[in-house]
Amino acid sequence: MRKVPDWKCARVTRVVLVRFAVMILTIPGAMQAASAQRLIAVPPPPMGWSSWNSFSNTVDAKIIMDQANAMVVNGMAKAGYQYVTIDEGWWLGQRDPGGNIVVDAKAWPAIAPGEQAGDMANIVRYIHSKGLRAGIYTDAGMDGCSLYPDLGPVYQHVGSEGHYEQDFLQFAKWGFDYVKVDWCGGDKEKLDPAVQYAEVARAIAKAEAATGHRLYYSICEWGNNSPWTWAPNVGGAPADIWRTSGDIVPPIVPHEKHSGRLASFPGVLSNFDQGIHPEAEHTGFYNDPDMMVVGMPGLTDAQSRVHMSLWAISAAPLLAGADLTTLSPATLATLTNPEVIAVDQDSLGLQGIKVATYGYGLEVWSKALSTPGERAVLLLNRTGDPAAITVHWGDFGLNDSSAVSVRDLWARKDLGSFDSSYSVAVQANDAAMLIVKGSEGKLNSYTATGADGVRGSREVTFTNVSSRVRVARLRISYINSGDAPQMAELRVNGQTATKIAFPSTGSDNSAGAIWIEALFDREAAKNVLNFELISAPGLKIESIAVE
Ligand code: GLA
Repeated sequence: MRKVPDWKCARVTRVVLVRFAVMILTIPGAMQAASAQRLIAVPPPPMGWSSWNSFSNTVDAKIIMDQANAMVVNGMAKAGYQYVTIDEGWWLGQRDPGGNIVVDAKAWPAIAPGEQAGDMANIVRYIHSKGLRAGIYTDAGMDGCSLYPDLGPVYQHVGSEGHYEQDFLQFAKWGFDYVKVDWCGGDKEKLDPAVQYAEVARAIAKAEAATGHRLYYSICEWGNNSPWTWAPNVGGAPADIWRTSGDIVPPIVPHEKHSGRLASFPGVLSNFDQGIHPEAEHTGFYNDPDMMVVGMPGLTDAQSRVHMSLWAISAAPLLAGADLTTLSPATLATLTNPEVIAVDQDSLGLQGIKVATYGYGLEVWSKALSTPGERAVLLLNRTGDPAAITVHWGDFGLNDSSAVSVRDLWARKDLGSFDSSYSVAVQANDAAMLIVKGSEGKLNSYTATGADGVRGSREVTFTNVSSRVRVARLRISYINSGDAPQMAELRVNGQTATKIAFPSTGSDNSAGAIWIEALFDREAAKNVLNFELISAPGLKIESIAVE
């Protein structure tokens, strides 16, 4: 197993060091052996490309090789896109008498000398040879989603139910780095997703332990069973991302086994809205509003820019879905804007939250970034008319008595310094995306109360916590002297718990801090925050500070 580089912070108050530590920990590939047995990594949201939106179930080796090549040649790989993921359609559901997956040798031939046709390790080697990572797809039930009677009996049972350990070990042995686990079969059989996905998590953990190879784990049950409340610690082992909504493009029509699916702007907005669960999104664990449709038929260039802005402000996975071999220059520029990508990939991993609404459809969203005093800000106009939208620094915790500098991320231009607020004209169904830099407003600190608050006990409670906003940013100071991340469950005012990972702070009892967002009762100055420490002993929560 690979080990994460050791990182430490001397003192909680040395915020710069804390942030540096978080950055080290979030380098893709940095990982540790977890007490929950999965190889835990807390990277930024994944970036890459997935086959489904453009190729549906016609995917084969030629398509994947072309897309991997294009990703390197067109500069997307350099911009941070890494994963090339093969969605449904790669497998026709046949198994040999030993239950092993049998792969269509024509669709997946030998690529390099000495390779056997029908071995998925071939395409993985090809993807890796381009410096990229490879992803694969299965279903937690018996069948995937593309089972249509008219496709004939061959296109059946493309799910892993009954073969979890065998299949996930096979994926890891083939060399895949990422697996998306769908829910069509599970849904049809009325299985319990929290139960099945926990079993999958255990199978993945076993495959990782057997091969030393990490499989990024993507859950796809469309948000039907509130996965944000259980996926971050499903079965004691975290999933990395979980879908929060249905498909961003309409399902394929039976008989129509090809691409050409039409994206729509309302579809993009709807998936964005359903993906907002900031209380569940912490560094390493992300809500997934679906693979993107940036640059696909059905969206204008401006709408694609808004789409990219929405995914970035919500720290969503950036998995492009358009055919990378035919991207227009405008689409490529949208997908590779480094400043917008940096917002998505910020090491705090926090989701943007809506901080102001003006009448119907004029909204201000803000995402806290890892540099103190910085916020990404999205001014979204959902209406059919141009409108001015004003953003007030105080709305997202910046000190509003000093000047704040503003930069436009799509124009790539500094706009100057402004006192207390900034107004911008936003076109109909469009958005402006800014970075603002000022100084942090005051944080209120709390220490644990009551008998439960004894450091090192399994529960830590903070009472009389006040916030004037519903979604409040919270800094948690803690010590985790073990070498693996520890998990705690947070309940605010008795709401459904959310799981939070606390990375190691090193073996010398030095303290660290993470930032999260929590749902508060806006009216109350008496919020109660209860942390239950659910993994191995050794995690101490010292204090919290609220924006
Ligand atoms: C579901 C998923 C899609 C895609 C298809 C494959 O609809 O939500 O993202 O994986 O299945 O059939």
